[in-house]
Amino acid sequence: MSASAHKPLLATVLGQRQARPPIWIMRQAGRYLPEYRAVRARSNGFLHLCYTPDLAVEVSLQPLRRFDLDAAILFSDILVIPDALGQSVRFEGGEGPILEPITPQTLGLLRPERVLEHLAPVLETVRRLRATLAPDKTLIGFSGSPWTVASYMIGGKGSPDQAAARLFALRHPEAFQTLMDMLVDASVAYLVAQLLAGADVVQLFESWALNLDEVAFARQVIEPNRRIVEGVRARVPKAPIIGFPRGAAGNIAAYVAATGVNAVGLDYATPLGFAAAQVPLAMPVQGNLDPLRLVAGGAQMEARVSQIIAAFADRPHIFNLGHGIVPETPIEHVARLVELVKRGV
Ligand code: CP3
Repeated sequence: MSASAHKPLLATVLGQRQARPPIWIMRQAGRYLPEYRAVRARSNGFLHLCYTPDLAVEVSLQPLRRFDLDAAILFSDILVIPDALGQSVRFEGGEGPILEPITPQTLGLLRPERVLEHLAPVLETVRRLRATLAPDKTLIGFSGSPWTVASYMIGGKGSPDQAAARLFALRHPEAFQTLMDMLVDASVAYLVAQLLAGADVVQLFESWALNLDEVAFARQVIEPNRRIVEGVRARVPKAPIIGFPRGAAGNIAAYVAATGVNAVGLDYATPLGFAAAQVPLAMPVQGNLDPLRLVAGGAQMEARVSQIIAAFADRPHIFNLGHGIVPETPIEHVARLVELVKRGV
């Protein structure tokens, strides 16, 4: 990273409020863009796209060609870690990922020693993005948080309540801990490698922080995320880290107090006043427009964007959605959103 360039989004993560909130959009590179669908159709499957730096760089940059966003996010997926560990991971026809579920008996077949070698092409994508991006743009790397990744590894697919993974944690606590430890170590190594390859900031996607009682939340969400932050900072002191504990709800204050993340992503169900009261004023927040407001567009979206910006006017704020953009989002609505935020409505 060039030390002199001002990157408004990175500065915000580091706690410096900007005159207008910088903006990026979770899942900004993806199926709502026709140019993404064209590259995807030429690729030999989704994982091939993630592991081919020429293509991954291209799709990472596509949203920045259309919109005045403040950051690019590395194009990859949270499930490259199970793939790198040797678990079977398939992405088929827009249906979401399918994995061969892990059992206490098959856990020993995972190969943590091959993770970084397997992910070398993703790190090459980070290096090329760093070399290509304009100096005022922040490059965001990422990893899934251990509980979210484990819930796919155990359940074999996305699930509305993560029942398979929650039961696994209760019935096989030792095997579960072995899996979480493996994911903490793999995530630390992978995030450190992304930072050394040129990522300015990394985000921990804990997309399934919901449906957990406070004991499970402490063990399955807070503790592994805390260990990742600590492990990354042992190798890259002061590494800027955004945590996104989707659905943390009443656990949000404990999450921000204990994990050590610089900034916290808020899901769209989090009331603005609640977030403002629970998250210390100096801590940057990111979010949190409902992605369906962006699909519908118009006056309701504009009003909500103003409310969100006003609610966080006294603290560092990064504008974002409260979860990923969905494929049916009209491109003109994204352009309008970015324009509104840049104007500082
Ligand atoms: O702009 C970006 O953010 C691109 C990089 C990115 C992808 N996935 C690309 C992708 C990132 C940061 C992710 C994160 C991710 N992946 C999460 C956490 C964020 C969230 O939305 O909660 C999760 C849970 C996954 C797992 C995953 N990958 C699912 C559930 C799916 C299928 C449904 C979907 O959201 O599209 C994927 C596939 C996937 N990952 C696609 C893309 C562009 C679509 C694949 C295709 O082109 O067929």
